[in-house]
Amino acid sequence: MSQTQADALVFFGATGDLAYKKIFPALQALAKRGALNVPVVGVAKSGWGLDQLKARARDSVEKHGGLDADAFGRLSNLLRYVDGDYGDLAAFEQLRKELDGAKHPVHYLAIPPSVFELVFDQLQKSGCAEGARVVVEKPLGHDLASAQELNRTLHSIFKEEDIFRIDHYLGKNTVQNLLFFRFSNSFVEPIWKRQYVQSVQITMSENFGVQGRGSFYDHTGAIRDVVQNHLLQVLTNIAMEPPPGSETEILRDVRVMVLHGIRSLRPEDVVRGQFRGYRQEPGVSPDSTVETFVALRLFINSWRWRGVPFYIRAGKCLPNTVTEVLVKLYQPPAIFCDVAPPANYYRFRVTPDLQIAVGAYVKLPGADDQGEMQELLINHPEDPNEMGAYEELLGDALKGSNAHFARQDYVEESWRVVDSVLDNATPVHEYEPGSWGPAEADAIGPPGGWYNPK
Ligand code: BG6
Repeated sequence: MSQTQADALVFFGATGDLAYKKIFPALQALAKRGALNVPVVGVAKSGWGLDQLKARARDSVEKHGGLDADAFGRLSNLLRYVDGDYGDLAAFEQLRKELDGAKHPVHYLAIPPSVFELVFDQLQKSGCAEGARVVVEKPLGHDLASAQELNRTLHSIFKEEDIFRIDHYLGKNTVQNLLFFRFSNSFVEPIWKRQYVQSVQITMSENFGVQGRGSFYDHTGAIRDVVQNHLLQVLTNIAMEPPPGSETEILRDVRVMVLHGIRSLRPEDVVRGQFRGYRQEPGVSPDSTVETFVALRLFINSWRWRGVPFYIRAGKCLPNTVTEVLVKLYQPPAIFCDVAPPANYYRFRVTPDLQIAVGAYVKLPGADDQGEMQELLINHPEDPNEMGAYEELLGDALKGSNAHFARQDYVEESWRVVDSVLDNATPVHEYEPGSWGPAEADAIGPPGGWYNPK
């Protein structure tokens, strides 16, 4: 049914955290653009009624982005609610009634993966899966084996083209722009290779902790939470071969080829950290060894990239909240003085706003042999009127456009890369909140040290 406009949107987990923080604001934004005209059915087990769901939706948009009375009114008129246990078929029969003959509903599972299978099963038994597509949220598995199992379950009911796996980084304009910028400017591609690029660093720094998500996070950790998905997506956009066209499956093919070239991570290439105080967070085990920080290095075994180290660092309670990529070129030779100028670089900021900078060496006035590093900068500040990642992805799911969703083989390959270093494969080192992680990370970092985004 891919590319068919959906005629209903069902979201499981309607009273949960994700719905509150992301889904209602995205739905209001879609309603504002006139892109939401189908019944929106929330499903949860909370003993609520429709009025309570509407009150929750209003509260959600007030707290996250602001209420737009007109758009919210439209959303509110579309809202329906089914209260019931996912184990109880009666709830799904009720859902079918609420769907009111919809032929192509989208089922969005904003619920823990432990109940995915149960919900799929009930959708099928109740006839709600017929003609439907499904949207699933990360975590898409817990490791390679469980990701494969999840895919088997999904495929037992839905066709791959009707499965939409959300990685909200793919909905970010800044992430899409990595690709767009690379392949829309003829000055990038000729140097985007091992002969010119010394190293690539991807840093995701967050200056907050687990924000009340302790029990989720303590079963997840930084590698599963952001590396296997968001940061490998950033990496594949930076490293992929030029796609022979912009069709979705072609882009997905070239992305997954990058992952095929990455050897499974070895423990010696990974340093894990945990911020001091993490074990006292609600929901976290007092002797937890889960990482809130990870630094790693990897290589892509391809003609283009062989020998170029790619470094990834991600952590909670670091000095600031920013995600950046630094592509460092080789130093130019010394011509104007005895010492070679510093290495040029490309810097891409992915959050919180879009920046693309080229670090270039420029002559200082009055001195024939001295220069300084400056940046040629493209800067696009955050704009509250721009489409957010969830708005874009939900709109796409309704339209049936899966360009910004992950394909099965990609998800499995990304798990394959990290599978060998999950859990306690490496020790965890404590670090001070507000620092750049444990000093042990320096040992596997780039020559000259890690680049810390400002
Ligand atoms: C989520 C992670 O997927 O991404 C969070 O679970 C993380 O831990 C978040 O904070 C970061 O997303 P963004 O869009 O704020 O960069």
